[in-house]
Amino acid sequence: MANGILKGKKGIIFGALDSNSIAWHVAEMAHAEGAEIILTNAPIALRMGAIDELATKLNTEVIAADATSEEDLSNLLDKSMEKFGGKIDFMLHSIGMSLNVRKKREYTDIKYDWMQKTFDISAISFHKLMQCAYKKDAMTDWGSILALTYIAAQRTFPDYNEMAESKSLLESFARSFGYHWAKKNNVRVNTISQSPTMTTAGTGVKGFQEFFDYSNNMSPLGNASAEACAEYCISLFSDYTRYVTMQNLYHDGGFSNMGMSPDVLNM
Ligand SMILES: NC(=O)c1ccc[n+]([C@@H]2O[C@H](COP(=O)([O-])OP(=O)(O)OC[C@H]3O[C@@H](n4cnc5c(N)ncnc54)[C@H](O)[C@@H]3O)[C@@H](O)[C@H]2O)c1
Repeated sequence: MANGILKGKKGIIFGALDSNSIAWHVAEMAHAEGAEIILTNAPIALRMGAIDELATKLNTEVIAADATSEEDLSNLLDKSMEKFGGKIDFMLHSIGMSLNVRKKREYTDIKYDWMQKTFDISAISFHKLMQCAYKKDAMTDWGSILALTYIAAQRTFPDYNEMAESKSLLESFARSFGYHWAKKNNVRVNTISQSPTMTTAGTGVKGFQEFFDYSNNMSPLGNASAEACAEYCISLFSDYTRYVTMQNLYHDGGFSNMGMSPDVLNM
């Protein structure tokens, strides 16, 4: 199916942990579409995940970066531009982690230092990445910056816990920084609001399987898969979407505009 729509483009992909990761699929597809990519993840994920396997397969390299560290991000951008021999055309922020969810703290019993860490990893890291790239003038004209989000930013999903606020913050950074990037050199910034997906981050949420099934029944097209999400990401990195910016784009099989589906009643 690949037709080379990213031919000649260079990009950085955050967040490929294992073959279930959405970023893993994006990396494979970007490579297949002709892009040159660099993979990155937190140092601990490099030890625990399977990212080296992906790097070998795609004949590329992995540069470690904790996305909360400005120093790591600066190093990543410098090394990437050195390897690319120029600026960056696209970046995918595919990072999410909640300490309170991981440690099974209820929303009504939040530990606030964990919450701040969650915001730092899942949302502020996006601002840090964009600010670092902005100061270095690291993006090519008409480049594309993308992050992944979830509809809990707009609606209440009780078990999503503090990730709901993380995603609201993330989406707000895309709008606010999107203005500055557009004015600077026509770079676009968007978030994709993806269906529930069976990944390490997704399945960490309480009752995920039941929720996945509910969402699948509620969405007239069914849940969008990680592969389909990757296809949408590729379109947003391509030159066919140059005037789409500061948007939160639903990629959810229609879930976000549904009120009630008979399929849910028959579950
Ligand atoms: N899975 C879902 O149901 C779903 C739905 C909508 C949106 N999303 C979003 O998609 C994105 C990717 O998640 P996924 O579902 O592919 O799960 P995943 O667990 O495969 O990916 C999450 C990634 O975040 C990385 N990460 C965590 N802390 C980091 C840090 N400090 N620095 C750098 N990287 C760090 C992890 O190593 C991992 O690679 C996340 O933003 C997630 O919230 C997921």
